Amino acid sequence: MDEERIISSRSRTDDDWQDSSLRPRTLGEYIGQEKLKTNLRVFIDAARQRGDSLDHVLLYGPPGLGKTTLASIIAGELGVNLRSTSGPAIERPGDLAAILTNLAPYDVLFIDEIHRLHRTVEEVLYPAMEDFALDIIIGKGPSARSLRLDLPPFTMIGATTRAGALSSPLRDRFGVVSRLEFYRDGELQEIVRRAAGILQVEIDEEGALAIAKSSRGTPRVANRLLKRVRDFAQIKADNTITGDVARLAMDMLEVDALGLDEVDRHLLRTMVEKFSGGPVGLDTLAAAISEETETIEDVYEPYLMQIGFLQRTPRGRCVTRLACEHLGLPFGDSGRQNTLW
Ligand SMILES: Nc1ncnc2c1ncn2[C@@H]1O[C@H](COP(=O)(O)OP(=O)(O)O)[C@@H](O)[C@H]1O
Ligand SMILES: [Mg+2]
Repeated sequence: MDEERIISSRSRTDDDWQDSSLRPRTLGEYIGQEKLKTNLRVFIDAARQRGDSLDHVLLYGPPGLGKTTLASIIAGELGVNLRSTSGPAIERPGDLAAILTNLAPYDVLFIDEIHRLHRTVEEVLYPAMEDFALDIIIGKGPSARSLRLDLPPFTMIGATTRAGALSSPLRDRFGVVSRLEFYRDGELQEIVRRAAGILQVEIDEEGALAIAKSSRGTPRVANRLLKRVRDFAQIKADNTITGDVARLAMDMLEVDALGLDEVDRHLLRTMVEKFSGGPVGLDTLAAAISEETETIEDVYEPYLMQIGFLQRTPRGRCVTRLACEHLGLPFGDSGRQNTLW
């Protein structure tokens, strides 16, 4: 279900064709995440000055916030090659060994969805990350012996939507662990303006702000909404995106001023109507709206929690008063308030 949503924060196949042109290429072009950028700038410059490889970097946070983009920017700023792969794509330890032995000195190895690495593959990474070495077992049974192969120094960048799913030995081997935050409206507005420039579509401040506000704090969503609004502006409004045009387009897409769509509203309404606002367990909720638990946790919940519409409690998920007010639903009967608030 999530794949079909205009405001899904996960990437969709139809994003790809223009994504590369919208993707910032330098830290200077990368908008927002100021603290992270400042730190990275220092780490990168220091590593370059020492002629060292940059420490391994773990980037985590909800989809669409710019993890993959940042990985390629880091490689660019270091002036080295980027080698990209993903956790599920590396099936056997030998696959990873092949990737590692093919790295040039100081290269960046980017592993997306690193929490989905196979356990046996992960074990190859430990000595590789720690000592730039590969332990290979030769032979079988009593005559088997282990051989240590030196690797060139390299920088590993891991990205994940769920840092909690990483094993601690793996997590501990990253020198830099950074969480990407949802973007503020002003930052998204700037991202929209920059993207509009690249796409060569006229947009005014108000138009950019309207799109920003409906983007769920997520650049990927902002770019996607911009493209849909652009279509609308092209057909109905002389190619210019004003606040009115943006809002009208958003209405047609059934995305509200907070970026919620039918799926979010369905989730919240289900919680109120079937579970009297919660607490309701994740599995139960997933079954009730026919969605995977992982999608709820990674895609829907982070934003709903960010805007204070949903709370995670030890006993399950709860809808907040704010959410009910936004949706025009009754808040809290059945004595729930007494137990939780
Ligand atoms: N800080 C940023 N400034 C401008 N555009 C961004 C920024 N972060 C992400 N984007 C845009 O959002 C899209 C999705 O980012 P991506 O790096 O693929 O996210 P993630 O890997 O975290 O899911 C990119 O193609 C890029 O166009
Ligand atoms: Mg990514």
